[in-house]
Amino acid sequence: MTAQKFSTLAVCANISKSKLDELKKEFHTVHYHPDAKIPDEILKDIDIWFTRYLGFPANVKSLEQIPKTRLLQLTSAGANVALTNPVLHEKGAHNQISVCSASGIHTMSIPQYIIAQIVNLYMKHQIQFHLCRTNAHWPTRQDIQQDLPASGTNLSSLPLYGKTAGLLGYGHIARETARLLKAFNVTVIAANSNGSKRVDDGYIIPGTGDIDGSIPSAYYSTNDKASFKEFLSKSDILIASLPSTPQTQWLLKKEHFEHLPKGAVFINVGRGNLAKSEDIIAALDSPYGLEGAALDVTDPEPLPDGHPLFTHPKVIITPHTSGDFVGSFDAGADVLLAQVRRLRAGQPLMNLVDPQKGY
Ligand SMILES: NC(=O)c1ccc[n+]([C@@H]2O[C@H](COP(=O)([O-])OP(=O)(O)OC[C@H]3O[C@@H](n4cnc5c(N)ncnc54)[C@H](OP(=O)(O)O)[C@@H]3O)[C@@H](O)[C@H]2O)c1
Repeated sequence: MTAQKFSTLAVCANISKSKLDELKKEFHTVHYHPDAKIPDEILKDIDIWFTRYLGFPANVKSLEQIPKTRLLQLTSAGANVALTNPVLHEKGAHNQISVCSASGIHTMSIPQYIIAQIVNLYMKHQIQFHLCRTNAHWPTRQDIQQDLPASGTNLSSLPLYGKTAGLLGYGHIARETARLLKAFNVTVIAANSNGSKRVDDGYIIPGTGDIDGSIPSAYYSTNDKASFKEFLSKSDILIASLPSTPQTQWLLKKEHFEHLPKGAVFINVGRGNLAKSEDIIAALDSPYGLEGAALDVTDPEPLPDGHPLFTHPKVIITPHTSGDFVGSFDAGADVLLAQVRRLRAGQPLMNLVDPQKGY
């Protein structure tokens, strides 16, 4: 493949001037439309697209309009929304166009979010922050205790030392989280779709993650009932970072929460359709159930006004912001630059989304 074959780029994400200049050195023509409003007449010339999670802009309605397009590089790790575009369901679309995620860049934000929320839940910070901010008054231990749920929980913090974290999904986010958790003397176990260790061959920011998959002391499979049950039964801290696919939708049901050890905490940064809100609330309200939950993604999303999860004393809600960080689209453009260099060198793409699997 020659450089000329990939000379025209469309950028539909807001990047810095210096990153745009870097892209301009790599491509003959760069159409920069951060508002995703690309004039119809240039669609036919575009070889490569760099877009947000939505994928192709609204005026791309058929494959015929984009005959030269070979790569759709997303700024997001999740490809579920981009894959719903009818253009990608036309015959031959996936032979012509490779869709690639920016999985790997969120190691800059989500693992630190996960660690922060585990610590917050283990220290019962959600109650203390809430009382201080709402009342602007120094709460007594009794004040705090009163706001804790009646299910036997108390203000004393729980030490992380010696606990087991179960990483549900062992991709980029989970691997970097595993690396950070080791500093707390936490045992790490992982569940993926086949229960075996694999090397991370995607985009990796140097110094992050667990490339060879050697951190977990054991691997489990979500496709094997007994294995999944054993995984859950050991997970004091259940951390979900799964893509949304037909297999992961409503994967965690009421009975799965019942398999967790008493006093477990649940963190979800993947997608909200992993577990129904009513099942999470039932687990939180059971005397033998969850000690806490931190949810960056919810069912439904957005959560409707007044939803009980917002004010549940054991819950921390963030509105799907754990992945945001300063310079995230520039980081996505670094993935694009690495991909284009691979394309030109005739090497396979990284983070290639399998349209059948959905990630
Ligand atoms: N909250 C946010 O702002 C935010 C930001 C970025 C990403 N996300 C979400 O987080 C997800 C993961 O991101 P990532 O960068 O870590 O992705 P990744 O590197 O592609 O990892 C995905 C992981 O999910 C596992 N998986 C897929 N289907 C599974 C199943 N049925 N059972 C068990 N494991 C399964 C994969 O395992 P195997 O293929 O090896 O089985 C892989 O380990 C994204 O897809 C997105 O939905 C959310």
